[in-house]
Amino acid sequence: MGTVPFLCLVLVSALTFSFTSSTSLNLSMGSSLSVENTELMSPDAVFSAGFFPVGENAFCFGIWFSEPPTSTRNITVVWIANRDMPVNGQRSKITLHKDGNLVLYDIDRYTVWSSNTVSNSSAHLHLRDTGNLVLLAADGLVLWESFASPTDTLLPQQALTRNTKLVSSRSLTNYSSGFYSFYFDNDNTLRLLYDGPEVSSIYWPDPWLLSWQAGRSTYNNSRIATFDSLGNFSSSDNFIVWTIDYGAKLQRIFKMDVDGNLRGYSRKGQGDAWSVSWEAILQPCKIHGICGANSYCSYIPSSGRKCSCLPGYEMISKTDWSYGCHPAGFDLSCKSSPEEVFGFVHLPHIEMFGYDYAVYPNFTLDQCKSLCLHLCNCTAFHHKFGNGQYQCYPKAQLRNGYRTPGFDGDLYLKLPKALLNATSKDGNNMCSNKLTSQLDRRYNKGNPNGSIEFMLKFASGLGGLEVVCIFIVWFFVTRRTSGGQQDSELELLAQGYLQAATGFRRFTYSELKKATEGFKEEIGRGGGGTVYKGILSDQRVAAIKQLNAANQGEAECLAEVSLIGKLYHMNLIEMWGYCVEDKHRLLVYEYMEHGSLAKNLSSNVLDWKKRYEIALGTAKGLAYLHEECLEWVLHCDVKPQNILLDSDYNPKVADFGLSKLLNRGELSSSNFSTIRGTRGYMAPEWVHNMPITSKVDVYSYGIVVLEMLTGTNPTECNVQCVEGGGETQKKMMIEWVMERMNGEFPNAENKMGAENEKGKLEILVEVALQCIEDDRDARPSMSRVVEMLLHHEL
Ligand SMILES: *[C@@H]1O[C@H](CO)[C@@H](O)[C@H](O)[C@H]1NC(C)=O
Ligand SMILES: *[C@@H]1O[C@H](CO)[C@@H](O)[C@H](O)[C@H]1NC(C)=O
Ligand SMILES: *[C@@H]1O[C@H](CO)[C@@H](O)[C@H](O)[C@H]1NC(C)=O
Ligand SMILES: *[C@@H]1O[C@H](CO)[C@@H](O)[C@H](O)[C@H]1NC(C)=O
Ligand SMILES: *[C@@H]1O[C@H](CO)[C@@H](O)[C@H](O)[C@H]1NC(C)=O
Ligand SMILES: *[C@@H]1O[C@H](CO)[C@@H](O)[C@H](O)[C@H]1NC(C)=O
Ligand SMILES: *[C@@H]1O[C@H](CO)[C@@H](O)[C@H](O)[C@H]1NC(C)=O
Ligand SMILES: *[C@@H]1O[C@H](CO)[C@@H](O)[C@H](O)[C@H]1NC(C)=O
Ligand SMILES: *[C@@H]1O[C@H](CO)[C@@H](O)[C@H](O)[C@H]1NC(C)=O
Ligand SMILES: *[C@@H]1O[C@H](CO)[C@@H](O)[C@H](O)[C@H]1NC(C)=O
Ligand SMILES: *[C@@H]1O[C@H](CO)[C@@H](O)[C@H](O)[C@H]1NC(C)=O
Ligand SMILES: *[C@@H]1O[C@H](CO)[C@@H](O)[C@H](O)[C@H]1NC(C)=O
Repeated sequence: MGTVPFLCLVLVSALTFSFTSSTSLNLSMGSSLSVENTELMSPDAVFSAGFFPVGENAFCFGIWFSEPPTSTRNITVVWIANRDMPVNGQRSKITLHKDGNLVLYDIDRYTVWSSNTVSNSSAHLHLRDTGNLVLLAADGLVLWESFASPTDTLLPQQALTRNTKLVSSRSLTNYSSGFYSFYFDNDNTLRLLYDGPEVSSIYWPDPWLLSWQAGRSTYNNSRIATFDSLGNFSSSDNFIVWTIDYGAKLQRIFKMDVDGNLRGYSRKGQGDAWSVSWEAILQPCKIHGICGANSYCSYIPSSGRKCSCLPGYEMISKTDWSYGCHPAGFDLSCKSSPEEVFGFVHLPHIEMFGYDYAVYPNFTLDQCKSLCLHLCNCTAFHHKFGNGQYQCYPKAQLRNGYRTPGFDGDLYLKLPKALLNATSKDGNNMCSNKLTSQLDRRYNKGNPNGSIEFMLKFASGLGGLEVVCIFIVWFFVTRRTSGGQQDSELELLAQGYLQAATGFRRFTYSELKKATEGFKEEIGRGGGGTVYKGILSDQRVAAIKQLNAANQGEAECLAEVSLIGKLYHMNLIEMWGYCVEDKHRLLVYEYMEHGSLAKNLSSNVLDWKKRYEIALGTAKGLAYLHEECLEWVLHCDVKPQNILLDSDYNPKVADFGLSKLLNRGELSSSNFSTIRGTRGYMAPEWVHNMPITSKVDVYSYGIVVLEMLTGTNPTECNVQCVEGGGETQKKMMIEWVMERMNGEFPNAENKMGAENEKGKLEILVEVALQCIEDDRDARPSMSRVVEMLLHHEL
């Protein structure tokens, strides 16, 4: 359809512009719309209602945005009448009967859906400018409206109520009801639910949080949520969000997406692509049910999430991960002597949420193994340190699997002994979410030469070697050699990433000026700019970094913003927003109560326990950067000034992604070793012009740990000691450390409780020395460091 001529030719004079542009049409009693020939249009032509194709000769009656035209099949559908029963392409119709009932018929007058309304006056069907399809009585009374029965999309002013919910589609091409829904629960709280064929569970807000912990109120039972065209979504349970582009009057929708994420989308004009302006779940692997049973999800920012079967298991459906994996020809059923038949495969950092038999506190690994061997239904167990002891969690089912370096527990998978050498079977990014494909389309708008998208793919394909730095060089080079075209492309890219993040918003300069009371209180100053303390309009205390504007183009700023926004970890500094306005470039971060590690180190307030925790937390943050992102993000400037401490002295790594963009003035050629890092913390690779890998961060981390141990900034030590090379360097370093550790400790030992923590101290020294090995292959990975620190094992 689409290009099909309109029945209503009353307004033919208007057709000079375009065949659909200025037509509106009401359906009166006794008339019908059919698949072949008609659709309704809202008076402003933004929405259409009618039949649209959902498959071979299959149609649904629904409402969609008129642009792009239906013939492209890329329409944005906002409502469907009985999505689960598409009708035949011929002789199906929707009729407004004389008794006031609106009925959708399939071929042979088979009723697929009806409005169940009655009216003896003359009613008519009308599509309003809001996208609401209404059945109006003669007196203007609304007998029925599509807003009262949403499908998977909310429009501005359309309320989600106690009686309605958004249900995702089954897939991108199948509009049938899927497994994910957004609804008001019995406790008046908005939630996201996975309701799969075998199990169901709530995954948002985080299921282990009580409502009030998630910032929700359970008291108001009016159960109503709406949003406006400026991007303010608010609900009676106190859940309020502003989209990143809040304030602009745009076309907007909130949609329960097929991948289980709730997203806000916006676009400027009718034909533009939609961009994500908010999403509920930052870490898409946390969405339940995506990879099915016996598998786990890993997340790669450049390509989305990926499912993999656990070792020994294989995929059930070759095309649909929601079916998960099943045992590849073995069974775990009861055996008389399980010790002889089964063993365990150790899988670090894999979380399997839920489905525990029970928790067994104070269980050693061997006790836990024995327990699981003898529990016939035990498929695996978690062995996890918490509350000062190891705890054992035998699992009845393996679901909601998620591999993340941030998870401290280890999974031990029970398998027949013959299969203990099995490895995970990876999927080829089949779960990669819709967002990625949308971004692809956006990039193509720009100059295809020098596409960043290509760089990204290239990067992840190579496993992330040298990528960031090359990326940056490329970035500068291209920026210098080309003009505005590149800028707008970068901006598109940046926005693309930005969209993927949530909690973000764009601030105006005057807002931030007000928040900082005219940039009054300076709390830090670095190469890239000055940091001020500010209080946002919602009372949150923020650190607002004003970048040196002269160096910072809009696209660069957005690129930086996007990089940070994409990454979320408790040991990485969180970004709340940004401002790009004329010459002004500002970034809004969470405020860190205790400033930088550098400052607190010099003031000697940190005892050994805290120092250990800081070393561990920093390692976790870096491990996340390196591994979750497949080495895509190297920090390249790890130093105490970039490790910030919150009110509990939890460390958060700051400034990743930023420094490389700021130091561009120093960049003279593609010799990037001159632009990265800080003297004293830089790995020998920089000096020797060797490939830059994540091990440069490991090296810098090692130096930071040494600094925490000795209280001395290694840059103050003999220059050769850090930047020489070879065995002598290491010897001198060890000597230097030992000197300070044994005798003249710069800090009074007793005061800092060093005596009690001797074991931990030794581990820190050992870790630090391994990290600063000259040979980068001899250095441990960041996640290995986390393991060593967690388990005190070396
Ligand atoms: C269609 O219905 C709307 C709302 O009831 C009314 O304002 C408009 O005049 C009608 N248009 C036509 C062409 O009947
Ligand atoms: C529709 O979208 C797909 C990708 O989803 C794209 O490949 C195709 O070109 C689009 N078609 C039109 C006509 O825009
Ligand atoms: C329909 O007609 C009946 C009686 O003929 C009347 O009682 C009723 O109020 C009418 N309903 C409407 C919606 O006009
Ligand atoms: C769409 O999904 C439903 C529910 O899973 C299924 O019954 C139906 O066959 C699917 N339709 C198509 C065209 O694949
Ligand atoms: C957002 O909407 C809610 C409810 O409509 C309103 O109370 C609130 O003031 C709005 N916030 C902003 C910033 O407009
Ligand atoms: C409950 O929420 C609704 C909608 O947000 C609001 O209008 C109403 O005032 C609230 N009631 C109470 C008692 O807070
Ligand atoms: C844990 O178990 C060991 C030996 O089984 C016991 O000595 C220790 O006191 C237990 N610890 C706690 C906290 O219960
Ligand atoms: C083990 O699983 C089987 C089937 O999955 C079930 O019938 C049985 O009750 C389970 N046993 C225990 C102890 O949970
Ligand atoms: C598993 O691998 C190890 C070494 O890689 C080998 O010695 C052992 O025989 C293998 N076991 C099985 C059951 O294949
Ligand atoms: C891309 O580069 C090729 C060769 O380097 C050139 O022929 C082509 O015109 C370029 N395309 C655009 C859109 O600049
Ligand atoms: C850590 O350093 C910050 C910044 O200098 C300072 O405000 C804070 O008080 C220090 N912490 C302690 C416990 O002294
Ligand atoms: C990069 O810089 C180093 C020292 O700063 C120099 O030795 C080396 O030759 C330079 N490499 C290139 C490719 O310019």
